[in-house]
Amino acid sequence: MTAQRIGMVVAAGRGERFARDLPKAFATLGDEPLLVHSARAMAQACDRTVVVCAHGWTAPAERLLVAAGIDAQVCEGGVTRTDSVASGLSSCGACEPDDLVGVHDAARPLATPALIAAVFAAVDEGADAAAPGLPVVDTVKLVDEAASVVRTVDRRGLWTVQTPQVFRWPVLSRAYETVRGCVTDDLALVEQAGAKVRLVMGDPANIKVTYPWDLELAEALMRR
Ligand code: CTP
Ligand code: MG
Repeated sequence: MTAQRIGMVVAAGRGERFARDLPKAFATLGDEPLLVHSARAMAQACDRTVVVCAHGWTAPAERLLVAAGIDAQVCEGGVTRTDSVASGLSSCGACEPDDLVGVHDAARPLATPALIAAVFAAVDEGADAAAPGLPVVDTVKLVDEAASVVRTVDRRGLWTVQTPQVFRWPVLSRAYETVRGCVTDDLALVEQAGAKVRLVMGDPANIKVTYPWDLELAEALMRR
C-alpha cells in the first residue's frame, strides 16, 4: 500500500484567552468557523483527516464539516492539547510505518496549501519531522521574575514555530506511547527522542488566533 498522509486538526481547546462563550475553534472568520478553514486546508493536502473537538462539540463540528463538503472524521479530545493529540492518534486506527501525520491547530485558519505541501515535502525528503518556522525578528531579553533584564539573547538561530507539524507516523506514535504530563509542542517530544527535525520557512500570515484581536488581524490577512 502506498504511504498515506493523515491530517489531524486539534480543535478541542476552550480558548480561555479568547474569552468567548463557545470554544475558540467555533468562532467565525469570514463566514466560516476557524475549524472549517483549518480542516479544509488539511483535508486538501491529506488522504484522510481527523478533527479533534471538545466534549459536547463533536456533533456540531460534524454538521459544520458536512455542510462545508469536507470529508473528515471527528473525535473527542481531552483536557490538554497533548491529551487531544493522543486521542486523535488513537482514532486514526492502524497506520503503516511509511505513513505521515500532520498535526495542525484549528486556531491557525490561514495555513496555505503551499505551506502545508512544503512541510510534508521536508519529511518526504528525509526528515523524521518538520514544521514551518520564522526567524525571530525582535530583540530577545532573558529576564528574572521581577522582569529585570539578565542579559540580551543572541537571536541568530532562534526561530518561532507554527503548525502544521508533520511526522513519520511511527515517530509521533512512539513518542505518544511514553508521554507523561502535557507538552506545548509535539516537535519537542520527538526531538528528545533524537529524531531529525527540520524547519521550513513559515508564513507570517499563518497566525494563531489566541486573543480576540488576532481574529481582527486574521480577517484583514484573509481579505488581502
Ligand atoms: N487544543 C486542543 N485540546 C486542548 C487544548 C488545545 O485540541 N485541550 C487545541 C486548540 O483547540 C487549538 C490548538 O490546540 O486549536 C492550540 O491551542 P491554543 O491556541 O492554546 O488554544 P486553546 O487552548 O483553546 O486556548 P487557551 O490556551 O487560551 O485556552
Ligand atoms: Mg491552550
